[in-house]
Amino acid sequence: MTLPTEILQHLNEQLNRELYAQYLYLVMASYFYEKDLPGFGHFFLRQSKEEGEHAMRLFRYLMEKGASFQPLPIEIPPKNYESPLACFEMAYEYEKKVTLSYYNLLKKARDLGEYDVEEFLLWYIREQREEESLMQGWVARLRLANGEGPALLLLDREAAAYAQSEEEE
Ligand SMILES: [Fe+2]
Ligand SMILES: [Fe+2]
Repeated sequence: MTLPTEILQHLNEQLNRELYAQYLYLVMASYFYEKDLPGFGHFFLRQSKEEGEHAMRLFRYLMEKGASFQPLPIEIPPKNYESPLACFEMAYEYEKKVTLSYYNLLKKARDLGEYDVEEFLLWYIREQREEESLMQGWVARLRLANGEGPALLLLDREAAAYAQSEEEE
């Protein structure tokens, strides 16, 4: 079945949001590497790669449906953050924004009786739950660290271990 124009446009926008996340997390990785916190750098590099995969999953779906991919401009992400906490807070905010955009698309798909789109989107709903929880956890731990060097270095090592374990999966 051909996708309704409204849905098609929204899917292309979601793909753009995933590409922006890929770019945002790449910039965040650079922020941490440049601050000599390579564990967090590795963490965001890993997240960036994952966002790229989210975009590709949408791309493949469009192609599978014989739909058209529309290239859209990708915004330039902010580079300078007040602190590691501020950086993670922004990542968490962005994940929540993306979750909402998937909810809106899912609602539209339901209203239009687009069950195949609905089924496709459920994967993203679950993924967003995981990513929100991940970012929320780091925000909480960084709040506890309160910007103190030893605590930050400890969390940096934890972030490295996390990124490493995700890569081995
Ligand atoms: Fe994503
Ligand atoms: Fe994400």
